[in-house]
Amino acid sequence: MSHWIALALAFAGLLAAAQAAKLGVVYTEGGFVEGKNKQIGLINPSYIDTFKGIPFAAQPGILQKAERHPGWSGTLKATDFKPRCLQVTLSQNDVRGELDCLYLNIWVPHSGRSVSTNLPVMVWIYGGAFLFGGAQGANFLDNYLYDGEELALRGNVIVVTFNYRLGPLGFLSTGDANAPGNYGLWDQHMAIAWVKRNIAAFGGNPENVTIFGESAGAASVSLQTLSPYNNGLIKRAISQSGVGLSPWAIQQDPLFWARQIGAKVGCPVDDTAALSNCLRVSDPRAVTLAFKLDLANLKYPVVHYLAFSAVVDGDFIPDEPANLFHNAADIDYLVGVNNMDGHLFAGMDISSINAPLQKITAAEVQKLVQELTLAKGALGMDMVYDLYTSNWGPNPEQELMKKTVIDAETDYIFLVPTQEALARHYSQARSGKTYSYLFSHPSRMPLYPSWVGADHADDLQYIFGKPFLNLAAFRPQDRNVSGAMIAYWTNFAATGDPNQGPSKVPTSWLPYDTQYGQYLEINNSITYNSMKQGLRSPYVRFWVQTYRNLPNL
Ligand SMILES: *[C@@H]1O[C@H](CO)[C@@H](O)[C@H](O)[C@H]1NC(C)=O
Ligand SMILES: *[C@@H]1O[C@H](CO)[C@@H](O)[C@H](O)[C@H]1NC(C)=O
Ligand SMILES: *[C@@H]1O[C@H](CO)[C@@H](O)[C@H](O)[C@H]1NC(C)=O
Repeated sequence: MSHWIALALAFAGLLAAAQAAKLGVVYTEGGFVEGKNKQIGLINPSYIDTFKGIPFAAQPGILQKAERHPGWSGTLKATDFKPRCLQVTLSQNDVRGELDCLYLNIWVPHSGRSVSTNLPVMVWIYGGAFLFGGAQGANFLDNYLYDGEELALRGNVIVVTFNYRLGPLGFLSTGDANAPGNYGLWDQHMAIAWVKRNIAAFGGNPENVTIFGESAGAASVSLQTLSPYNNGLIKRAISQSGVGLSPWAIQQDPLFWARQIGAKVGCPVDDTAALSNCLRVSDPRAVTLAFKLDLANLKYPVVHYLAFSAVVDGDFIPDEPANLFHNAADIDYLVGVNNMDGHLFAGMDISSINAPLQKITAAEVQKLVQELTLAKGALGMDMVYDLYTSNWGPNPEQELMKKTVIDAETDYIFLVPTQEALARHYSQARSGKTYSYLFSHPSRMPLYPSWVGADHADDLQYIFGKPFLNLAAFRPQDRNVSGAMIAYWTNFAATGDPNQGPSKVPTSWLPYDTQYGQYLEINNSITYNSMKQGLRSPYVRFWVQTYRNLPNL
């Protein structure tokens, strides 16, 4: 009798196993990989397969482009995140991560009983000033910021995250063939190309690849769409607070910074061949530590100190980004900014910004404007100062003065270059569509003044669905924001139109054009009134036309 029960139980177990949607062992170009399968829910469950730590390139040589991975025999257990690429810690007094770091992670949702096929694919490029960051992001209470599970399940998309090299090891350049730079961008390209070649085996549609990223990751997304090397690999792209036209995205004088690093680690600096050969055999930890962003003693605004970023190398980035938009003509592009993206930077430049009892002075504002406009001298400074203080009157309130600084930094660092990228993308597009947004859900940082809007990086928690994972830490209105963003983003990944696709959206998001400059304001209350036109257009026109045409010093 008990035999029969055991047999019946075993049979029931087999049935359940047969019903679970599970990829099991997947064959990739490098060999077999096996991840983990998880059931979501009890009645009508869905399933998700997660693969962590798949190599997409071999361990790269120092200041060398990465190469294809030679592959492995047997089955690779893809169950744990790999360390980040070697980088400074947040204190910048130590390093973390590894040289062997070119790995990616994949989340594959299965909404029914059979495994998914032909899903849209979203490939994430993290930010962190090209200095910090990793594929899975920071870990809070065993929940990684860039864990793709929630986004994958809610939007029915495959999510991929990957590591790329950072700091001097990722972006140092001698400005010539001896060390052309852009190593981190080449890593990103290797990951995108790997996804294109392999994602079908995971149930993805290689014709439906969207790259998305934030801050330095958003500028990277933009640069990847502008590089001829990604021709045919990318169908869609999303840049959140950063584009290739941002003043910090391209390093115009890389040799200056290469020499600084060389001098610190004891390399000859006059000859670029000798310098790069020496750096290649130096301790990579010392090379990484040789650059320090000394936040406590900045002479100029912090945005001027992003020493290691992309370069116009005549190869991956063949020309100034403004001249490369024809390469994105068939890519759908969704791009936007946070309404106080500049707040984080303003707070580093002028400490009274976040101190309610500390006063900001007009002289401080003027000095900041002067430093942002160094290239155009006194005339540029006067014009910018007059424009931004035109609503001050004789006795401006502290709040107004502080917001003026944040507006100026938001415009200069993020908003204006983003509007220019929108216009260029739209004007050069063939089949590619163009969408613009402004994210304005106020920051939840407890120590900030109550008037602070959406700060830089505030959008990350919503796009990765954190309000649904931590019900106590987030409010219903935060879930509203998160649900709406995920719906628009994943619809866009599926169809190229944020309104069309599997998810319902709160209102119709009209595409951008240069005549009206339509954009969607995203916050906890999205209605038809959230579609607006001409985001800060007088300021954008000033910077792109009047200011740019002033003579350079
Ligand atoms: C969620 O957003 C909708 C409109 O998009 C709004 O009607 C509703 O009140 C919002 N709910 C919360 C809790 O904020
Ligand atoms: C992308 O995926 C969506 C949803 O699965 C599908 O409707 C669409 O046809 C796909 N696009 C291409 C180019 O295959
Ligand atoms: C949210 O968006 C609406 C529509 O654009 C706008 O009127 C409102 O001021 C925004 N709310 C916040 C907090 O910015």
